[in-house]
Amino acid sequence: MKIVQYPHPALRHVAKPLKAIDAEVRQVAGKMLELMYEAKGLGLAAPQVALPYRMLVMNFAGDADQKDQECVAINPVLVEKKDGTEEGSEGCLSFPGLYQKVRRAKTVVVRAYNLEGQLYEMTAKELPARLWQHEIDHLDGTLYIDKMGPLGKIAARGALREFEQKFRKAQEKGEIPSDADIEKMLKEIEEKM
Ligand code: CO
Repeated sequence: MKIVQYPHPALRHVAKPLKAIDAEVRQVAGKMLELMYEAKGLGLAAPQVALPYRMLVMNFAGDADQKDQECVAINPVLVEKKDGTEEGSEGCLSFPGLYQKVRRAKTVVVRAYNLEGQLYEMTAKELPARLWQHEIDHLDGTLYIDKMGPLGKIAARGALREFEQKFRKAQEKGEIPSDADIEKMLKEIEEKM
């Protein structure tokens, strides 16, 4: 398992709800947390490791030693957005080095299952609220580049072109499967879910 980068098709694939939380799902969550900490990220969504699962891992402090800040969310739902919106800088592990301002709701209420299969509800503000919105978007194939303001989008153009060229070159060399083969793999995983 590894973190895939834009424009990998898994990032645009709408993820499917998990029907059971079994040993495999727990193992995937553990591996995702490991990858997230290695990459020094605050959050990682399953589509970023090319799995079409509605699952997220986060650490609101971005610190592996602060386990109380760690959060696994299975089939998360954004219940409510409130307190207006706020612009803030965002990055994404699938776009290394690209930071731009994105406008998000200041406060969100979210609901999800944990790895024990218990449903929980959480009210998140500021950075955690931003993180939840960014990560839940991933499950619908929505990326922060879609939500940047007009100036941010222009500023990001060069970086996106570089990501695209690098990805297509890796596909030509056979280091990454073709888009069609990736879609086929995602469908196969969904059929086994
Ligand atoms: Co992201």
